[in-house]
Parts: sequence; C-alpha cells; structure tokens
Amino acid sequence: MPAWSEEATVVARNLKKSYGDFEAVKGVDFEVYRGECFGFLGPNGAGKTTTMKMIYGVAIPTGGELKVVGLDITERERDVKRRIGVVPQENNLDDDLEVRENLLVYGRYFDLPKKVILQRVEELLDFVQLTDKAESEVEHLSGGMKRRLLIARALVNDPDLIILDEPTTGLDPQARHLVWDRLRELAAQGKTLILTTHYMEEAARLCNRLVIMEGGRIISEGSPQELIERHVSPQVLEFRAPTETLERLSPLVQDEADAVEQTDGALLAYTADADTLLEKVRSAGVAVENTAYRQTDLEDVFLRLTGRSLND
Ligand SMILES: Nc1ncnc2c1ncn2[C@@H]1O[C@H](COP(=O)(O)OP(=O)(O)OP(=O)(O)O)[C@@H](O)[C@H]1O
Ligand SMILES: [Mg+2]
Repeated sequence: MPAWSEEATVVARNLKKSYGDFEAVKGVDFEVYRGECFGFLGPNGAGKTTTMKMIYGVAIPTGGELKVVGLDITERERDVKRRIGVVPQENNLDDDLEVRENLLVYGRYFDLPKKVILQRVEELLDFVQLTDKAESEVEHLSGGMKRRLLIARALVNDPDLIILDEPTTGLDPQARHLVWDRLRELAAQGKTLILTTHYMEEAARLCNRLVIMEGGRIISEGSPQELIERHVSPQVLEFRAPTETLERLSPLVQDEADAVEQTDGALLAYTADADTLLEKVRSAGVAVENTAYRQTDLEDVFLRLTGRSLND
C-alpha cells in the first residue's frame, strides 16, 4: 500500500505507459500539491503528453499507480473528470461552432444549472479577452485566440486542477504574456496547475516546481532555483567565434571552467568566477568575436542534462 499524501492533488508511483512494444513513459514518480504550479519540461517525444493524458484519463496506464484529486483514476474516472480542466496539446475545438457556443456546449457536459453556465461563459470570454469574438466562427480565429479559447473551455466546470499541455506554443509574445497573467491569476485563486512547456522562461516564471523528462523518464526534479543550483554553476560565459577559433579556445576554457558545452557557434563555459576565466582567455590572445556574460538559467540546466537546447 503506497502512502498517499493528504496534500497531494496528483500522485504518480512508478507510472508507466506502453504503446505496443514501445514504452513511452518508463516508470515516473511525482507528487503535485494543492495550489502549486507544477511543470514538465522535456524535448519532443520525452513522454510529457502521454503523462498528461494519463492524468486526465485519456491514456490508460500500463503500470504503476496514479491518483488524481485524491481518487484512483481507474476506479473513479467520471468524478476525476468533473474536477479537472484540460488544455490539450492539439486544438480540439468544434470548428463548426461559434466561440461562445463552444463554451456553452462544453458546459452542458457538466450538470450545472443553465444560469450558472451562461454567466460563467461570459466571465470566461472576458477572462481570455475574447468577448468581442464571441460570435465568430472558431475556424476564423487566429492560433493564439484558439489557444485562449481552449483555456476558457478548460475552466467551464470551475476545476480544482488544470492541466495545460503547451499552453503558449505558437503564441506571439503579447499573447503569451496574457496567458501567463491568466495562469498566475488562477494560481492565486488556489487552483492547482500542471503544465508542459518548451519555454524555459515560462517554466521559470510560473512553476513552483518542475520535472525534466527525457526518454520516458524524469531525470531531475525541483524548483527552478534548486535545479539551477544543483546542475550548473552560477555564471556562464558564451564565446561566439568561427569553429576553428572555438576549438583553440576549448582546451583553455576546459581547464578553468566547471563545465563546458558547445552549441551551434558558441562555447559555453560554466563557472563561479567569470572574471578570472575571461582574463585567462584574454591573456591567451584568442580572438573571440563576441563574448556574453550572464547568470545561468533553466536553459543551461536543460542543456547540461540532455545535451540539447529546449527548442531543438
Ligand atoms: N498513440 C501512440 N501510439 C504510439 N506511440 C505513441 C503514441 N502517443 C505517443 N507515442 C510515442 O510516445 C513517445 C512520447 O510521446 P509524447 O507525445 O508523450 O511526447 P511529448 O513529450 O509530449 O513530446 P512533444 O514535446 O513533441 O509534445 C513518442 O515517441 C511518441 O511517438
Ligand atoms: Mg507533447
């Protein structure tokens, strides 16, 4: 018998999902607490969507245990669905219906008084700034508007837990900031949010805790700050130069830095003492076109752990 934490909204223990012979999720453990914003970061194919689908009951686990809003999903599927809201990775809005109708029709799945639904729909249209598009056909909305409508739809049943699979992918910066504001507002209302993202900034701004997934496994877990402290040095120097120059620079930097990563056209040197490292490079007389100094962030953690950048 696993000990289910009272405070946890979602508990996964050795959770697995196979499609035929292929194991997409290879036994993951995590707990999401009430009122938290919990993130899943990982490259394409890491198993994020598969994990989300298990949480919202569309994919059936092939191993392990999963409790959502305190209920075992295999036993209490309907009760679970009533209490969660879902923004799927793929848009599944009804293209034949107008914006407002999409929300009204969805609201009818839940046994709510009509008056409550009508009022909530108007509030939600306002919440995602689509009131002036209420009578538009969904197919005429921009990608960002569709994403916002999906978020509104996920809130129709006033869920405790909201699962957002890449809520801002494809949005322009302004629309992304609007979604971030709304998600922060939901968190402030005490909702629990679980989101997947490829954007380090999104995870850093929104998530209290997150996991990094790769190849069906969780490879690290913590708050953004904890992950940075655990996996990378506090500072990074980025040297940009032609490949031959970087190759000459590399051994020099290797000696001095805590860790070195090479990406397209740049050498990244992780260190607690950027000044000393920079001085060493200067005195060696290697001509670097462009040197940038910054504090390390989740992007560096991701690069360090997976050997690739988040948006690869
Ligand atoms: N229905 C399915 N049948 C077979 N394989 C699947 C199915 N759904 C997902 N997979 C495979 O499982 C793996 C994980 O897919 P998943 O969609 O969970 O990844 P992801 O982390 O969400 O990736 P992305 O960042 O691209 O959305 C992939 O290799 C994918 O091809
Ligand atoms: Mg996905």
